[in-house]
Amino acid sequence: MECRARPRVEPPPGLPPGAASDVVEETFLLAGHTVRMLRPRDDDALLDELLAEADQDEDRLPFWAQLWPSGAVLAREVAGRCLAGRRVLELGSGLGLVAVAAALSGARVLAVDRSPEATTFTAANATRNGLTVQTAVCPFEQPERLLAGAPWDLVVAADVLYEQRNVPVLLWLLPRLVTVGEVWLADPGRPMLARFLAGVDALGWRREHTEPDPSGVAVHRLRPDTAAGSSGRRPRHPRGPATGR
Ligand SMILES: C[S@@+](CC[C@H](N)C(=O)[O-])C[C@H]1O[C@@H](n2cnc3c(N)ncnc32)[C@H](O)[C@@H]1O
Repeated sequence: MECRARPRVEPPPGLPPGAASDVVEETFLLAGHTVRMLRPRDDDALLDELLAEADQDEDRLPFWAQLWPSGAVLAREVAGRCLAGRRVLELGSGLGLVAVAAALSGARVLAVDRSPEATTFTAANATRNGLTVQTAVCPFEQPERLLAGAPWDLVVAADVLYEQRNVPVLLWLLPRLVTVGEVWLADPGRPMLARFLAGVDALGWRREHTEPDPSGVAVHRLRPDTAAGSSGRRPRHPRGPATGR
């Protein structure tokens, strides 16, 4: 429940009109650092606003607007590592806690989301903590920017399997983003997780996961089985022929 006493702070510049005018700051302790994160005070109010619009666009639903348990768990995992000089890509960054944790660990980070509000908050939250995170508005279905930067040392994603359509897209995309690196995906046990992990197994990748925390979130660590040469098992693009790579 939101504490009404939390003072209102200036929203990050560059937000689309109406996105979130009532912004608050929340702090997290990550690997001994106090991280300060801006977020909309009331994400339910944002959702209500959008649902009231006649022309509701599913892609604009403000799932970016809160710090999800999966993001908090993955941020703690990432913050505990030495990622100095590593190139890290975050898929579906939301407010950017995981991207901030990776930058805090020394990584060079690109954080992407399909929502411009999310990338605005992510960049602002990195700056607020004296860190640099590159951001891009990029739906997973239009991954040219992500492919151009591949291979990544580490791809991280928290709670992105709540939409069924993301499963085939990610199973197509991940083998094109990572060759000898890893993917760390935090998930609270969404219904689509089992289907996604079956797809990972079908790719011939290796995987392990952390013990679920009390809220059910586990971090799945996935990596291509380079010994088995898994590159031959890349699936076809879910919406047509594979582009480029
Ligand atoms: C449940 S939120 C999690 C946000 C953040 N990772 C966290 O854990 O706090 C999911 C995020 O993924 C983004 N997302 C979902 N599907 C996406 C897609 N196909 N392409 C790009 N971003 C997507 C949403 O906009 C949202 O910001």
